[in-house]
Amino acid sequence: MENRPQWGTRAGFILAACGSAIGLGNIWRFPSTAFENGGGAFFLPYLFALLTAGIPLLILEFTLGHKYRGSAPLSYARLSKKYEWLGWWQVAIAFIISTYYAVIIAWAMSYSVFALNLSWGTDTGAFLGEYLQVAAPGEFGSLVPKVLIPLLIVWAITLGVLFKGVKKGIEVANKIFIPALVILFLIIVVRALTLDGAVLGLDAFFKPDWQALKSGEVWVAAYGQIFFSLSIAFAIMVTYSSYLPKKSDITNNAFITGFSNSAFELLAGIGVFSILGFMAMQQDMSVKEVVAGGVGLAFVVFPEIINQFPAFKEVFGFLFFASLVLAGLSSLISIVETFVAGVQDKFNVSRTKAVLFGGGLSAVISLIFATQGGLNFLDVADYFINRFGVALAGLVQVIVVVWLVKQLKPLQQHANLVSDIKLTGFLGSWWKVSLAFITPLVLGFMMFDLIRTNID
Ligand code: PHE
Ligand code: NA
Repeated sequence: MENRPQWGTRAGFILAACGSAIGLGNIWRFPSTAFENGGGAFFLPYLFALLTAGIPLLILEFTLGHKYRGSAPLSYARLSKKYEWLGWWQVAIAFIISTYYAVIIAWAMSYSVFALNLSWGTDTGAFLGEYLQVAAPGEFGSLVPKVLIPLLIVWAITLGVLFKGVKKGIEVANKIFIPALVILFLIIVVRALTLDGAVLGLDAFFKPDWQALKSGEVWVAAYGQIFFSLSIAFAIMVTYSSYLPKKSDITNNAFITGFSNSAFELLAGIGVFSILGFMAMQQDMSVKEVVAGGVGLAFVVFPEIINQFPAFKEVFGFLFFASLVLAGLSSLISIVETFVAGVQDKFNVSRTKAVLFGGGLSAVISLIFATQGGLNFLDVADYFINRFGVALAGLVQVIVVVWLVKQLKPLQQHANLVSDIKLTGFLGSWWKVSLAFITPLVLGFMMFDLIRTNID
């Protein structure tokens, strides 16, 4: 086949896949999602979603990319001429995500600089407040250095890495970003656990509210988290695995990626809630009162807590926001690569042109998010993307592969041909039953429930 770029090493691929998976979703999204959806009880639907949808789909996507050696649209086209659109749909979702994901990374970059002299001040909500009031680009004044410049830096790094290609760009970047991220984050978690009140926070985080399991929304949240967090149904994992050499251990790699991502997520939850417990103790409030959902947690509550830190505030603040930046960049790179690869495969253009076109377009749109008080839109986008975009794309994906094109068996054989961990016996049945029945049933029910509640 054509000379497709390849990863240099197996570790390079795993780090890149983990780099895509481990992102803002782990640090910024998971802790509050778990807390709001049953605390300790959330782990049940979460684990269920991981084991019956997350990892089985990851294996499926790795196999598709490896077997058909194409970006998502090309791989689906090779699976069956009729389904190229499925790949483009997923590419489109990834594209939309990239436009707001970049903005959050830019904020984190600003905040890591603010942290150096605690220049977010005592009223830590002021920045976002000011931000929300900006109605027109003309009123943007003081925010230019705080938002636009970091956003341009985010795009410069992302496009710079992508220009350099798969092995010299993406692989090298992840080999630096991911180990650095793990080190920074471990320092944060150890410090967090030794704060006064940490236990209080952990207690609130892990306390199970079993009643929550009866609510459909909680299951939707668990599946949404798994899909977003593992970057599945976004065409990304298909794209990354299309750069794997012929002899690659797909199944094993999928397990490593899936478990690393969840381990990081758990670590983030422990870190974030230890810190919230500290805050609750300082203020003599309950953890529930100090927690905030969405962007407020990272960008309002955290600076406030850092202000009250016993020592080394600046260092701690910097480490926290720098780790958000590292986690975010390695994911953003994967999101943009997805449509770069799609465009390249389809129109046979050079990588440089595809990066300029795809990345450039997303960069321009993200500037609109950044300048038009797009924060409100951001929460709305996140809500719909996760529910309708991702869950629906995931549902259609399994129905197409398993029930319409009927390729589950050949894909299973393909995975077994190259992997040490064989999908036979129990593992084989687990994989097939998860993809053929459990995932479509749960997702189908979820969509039905969502449509019903949205009509009410
Ligand atoms: N998985 C990333 C995270 O947890 C986000 C992401 C979503 C990355 C979609 C790529 C595609 O933050
Ligand atoms: Na993730």
